[in-house]
Amino acid sequence: MNQTLVLYRSKYGAAKKYAELLRAQTGCTVCEAARADALSFEPYRCIVFIGGIYASGIAGLSTLRRHLGRLQGKRVAVFAVGASPADEKALAALKAHNMKGPLQDIPLFYGRGAWNEQAMTFKDRTLCRLLRKAVSRKDPGACEPWEAALMEAGGSACDWTDPAYLEPLAAFLAAERP
Ligand SMILES: Cc1cc2nc3c(=O)[nH]c(=O)nc-3n(C[C@H](O)[C@H](O)[C@H](O)COP(=O)(O)O)c2cc1C
Repeated sequence: MNQTLVLYRSKYGAAKKYAELLRAQTGCTVCEAARADALSFEPYRCIVFIGGIYASGIAGLSTLRRHLGRLQGKRVAVFAVGASPADEKALAALKAHNMKGPLQDIPLFYGRGAWNEQAMTFKDRTLCRLLRKAVSRKDPGACEPWEAALMEAGGSACDWTDPAYLEPLAAFLAAERP
């Protein structure tokens, strides 16, 4: 039996897509993070949290924090999914913002997600439009990488998901197998 459990949190499908790609590649078990309370972690050696990034926060980390006690002795990794191009500086900022205190030693991986304003909730779409307006007044050099991606996307749908983003995580998981 594959001993990896993947818990994902996805609003618009990209984080779920990466979880399912990982299942196809490795045979891991995949489940929504919201169902973690009802799951036994006992059979698994590795637990991976995959979550979309919204306003700089990685979704699903509250579940990770709540279950830290049950993760003792297991290998844990986080795979964040955002609009920003993969870039060392952006990843360092993401880590500093999200992986604090007891999460600081957990490896963080990153994959680029998708962007479709038409599919967003009214609240998210409004937020993104307001943000695009605010960013358009900014000096381009002062934009966050994901803000630049949002400007580049304009109002159109973009899908930057790519299985290649999973390679470093898959290598990490393979190194953990007996
Ligand atoms: C309201 C909102 C805020 C977002 N904030 C960020 C952000 O801070 N950084 C980033 O890289 N991407 C950001 N994004 C883009 C999402 O991370 C991207 O769409 C990703 O695919 C979301 O995962 P999901 O498709 O599984 O929901 C944001 C998207 C929305 C709708």
